[in-house]
Formats: sequence, C-alpha cells, structure tokens
Amino acid sequence: MGFGTMRLTGPGIWGPPEDQDEAIRVLKRCIELGINLIDTADSYGPEVAENLIAEALYPYPDDLVIATKGGLRRTGPGQWPRDLRPERIKASCEGSLRRLKLERIDLYQLHAVDPKVPYEETVGAAAELKAEGKIRHVGICNVGRSELEIARGIVEVVSVQNRYSVVARSSERVLRKCEADGLGYMPWFPLGAGNLGEEAAAALDEVAAVHDASRFQIALAWLLARSPVTLPIPGTSKVAHLEENVAAASIKLTDDELAKLDEITEA
Ligand SMILES: NC(=O)c1ccc[n+]([C@@H]2O[C@H](COP(=O)([O-])OP(=O)(O)OC[C@H]3O[C@@H](n4cnc5c(N)ncnc54)[C@H](OP(=O)(O)O)[C@@H]3O)[C@@H](O)[C@H]2O)c1
Repeated sequence: MGFGTMRLTGPGIWGPPEDQDEAIRVLKRCIELGINLIDTADSYGPEVAENLIAEALYPYPDDLVIATKGGLRRTGPGQWPRDLRPERIKASCEGSLRRLKLERIDLYQLHAVDPKVPYEETVGAAAELKAEGKIRHVGICNVGRSELEIARGIVEVVSVQNRYSVVARSSERVLRKCEADGLGYMPWFPLGAGNLGEEAAAALDEVAAVHDASRFQIALAWLLARSPVTLPIPGTSKVAHLEENVAAASIKLTDDELAKLDEITEA
C-alpha cells in the first residue's frame, strides 16, 4: 500500500491545505505505518504537495520511494492542461528535484499523453533524464496498451498509473499486461475519489460487515487481491483515514467475497 498526496492541497487541488499541520502529520504517519512509496506530482497545488513532502520528511528514510510526475500545467483550481513537450518535461523534473531536495528521483512518471506532442518525443525526454542520472526509473500514466508499447520501445518502464478501482475497470487489459510483464500498477482513484456509488456501496458494505471494516477498506483489499502488481495509492488529508486505509492491507477476502465484488458494475 502506498500513499497519494493529491488530497494534501486546497480545494480543486489548488493552493495550500486547509489544515497544514494535519497534512504534515499525515505524511509523518505514513512513515510510522511502514508506507515506503509516496505518490505526488509537480501539479498538485501546484508545487504544494512536493513542498509538504520535503518539509515533513526530509531527510528521507533510506527505503522511501518518492514517485513524482510531470506533464500537466495548472491554470486554476480543477484545471489541468497537458504539456508534455520534451523541454517542459525536463524543466518540470528540475523543479521537482529542487523542491524534493533530491539529486535523483526514484520514480519519475509522465503524467499523461499530450495529443499535440508525439508520444515518442515525450518518452524520449524521460529516457534522457534517466541517462543523465536525474531519475532512476520511468513510469507512465493514463495510457492504453499501444502507448505502453511505444514507451517500452524507448526506455525501460517500471510502472503504469491508470484510473482503476472496484467501480472503474476500463483499464483491466492494461493491468493484465503489467501483470504478465512484471510492471507495477498504481490504480488512481482507488476509493472512487471518496464516492463509490450506491450500488457498489451496498455490496461493499455487506462484505465490510463480516470483516468489521469500512467499505473503503474493502475496496482497497479488493484491489490488493486483484493482482500481485497492484499498488493502491489512496489519498487523504486526515490521519484517521490514513490509518484506516493502511489497515486494509491486512484484510483477507475469501474467494466468494472476491467473486461477489467482481460482479459490481461501474459506478
Ligand atoms: N496519474 C493521475 O492522473 C492521477 C489522477 C488522480 C489521482 N492520482 C493519484 O492517485 C491518488 C489517489 O487518488 P485520490 O486521492 O484522488 O482519490 P481516492 O484515493 O480514490 O479518494 C480520496 C478521497 O477519499 C476520501 N477518503 C480517503 N480515505 C477515506 C476513508 N478511509 N474513509 C472515507 N473517505 C476517505 C478522501 O477524503 P479525506 O481527505 O477527507 O480523507 C478523498 O476525498 C492521488 O492522491 C494521486 O496521488 C493520480
């Protein structure tokens, strides 16, 4: 189980958090709970989430992987125009290195595919950053199988981050490709951004009652059981929710329960 930092910013993923002290406590608690992968992006805030990570956790524990991303600009709350031109990716990476106080980023993820830029050129920038030693591993986000193949023809790709959850299965085939080839898969919106829909909530609540758990914990346990390569990165701004989410990693669902949850249709 990892942690996603998108919820540590203000409304619309814009500006500072409403409760800065709680945001810092969430990040510190991640380490105490044994989380060693924290997902972020230069665009969260923008810059707010990366700055909070450095403020709360630098100098970092040796085994902590900070996975950041570049490729989205911010023009206002809730606005995320894409810009994955090579020169922009390189400038974004420099900014992340500076804010995170790192000499090398363990996992640098291309945040999207930009219809105005050939994907080969975007991935080429990541390959150059890797060759220069500024990033250790390359990950990609919001891709289909064809983009995954293009990227892997240019550089080693270690992970994919796509929207996927018990109520959003459209990336199933990409997940299976990652599983077959041993790439990590980080499902974003693992909790449906806090709203799993009525039908799913009822099915999840039924299983949750048996485990004395919450529907969100069951959604996470389902993801962990779904494939050995899934690495959920649930986001929260609250220590209590973080603790609840991490505890989901020890819930073992039975085959019958998994089959029942598999039947949930998209929200
Ligand atoms: N690559 C991409 O394009 C992309 C896109 C979106 C997200 N992401 C990444 O994926 C991560 C996860 O996505 P997300 O944070 O947007 O959505 P999410 O994890 O599906 O849901 C987060 C929402 O659920 C609430 N929540 C969390 N734990 C809860 C609990 N135990 N009980 C009740 N409510 C709970 C949070 O509110 P509270 O703050 O009140 O807990 C928050 O509003 C992000 O943080 C980000 O790192 C990547």
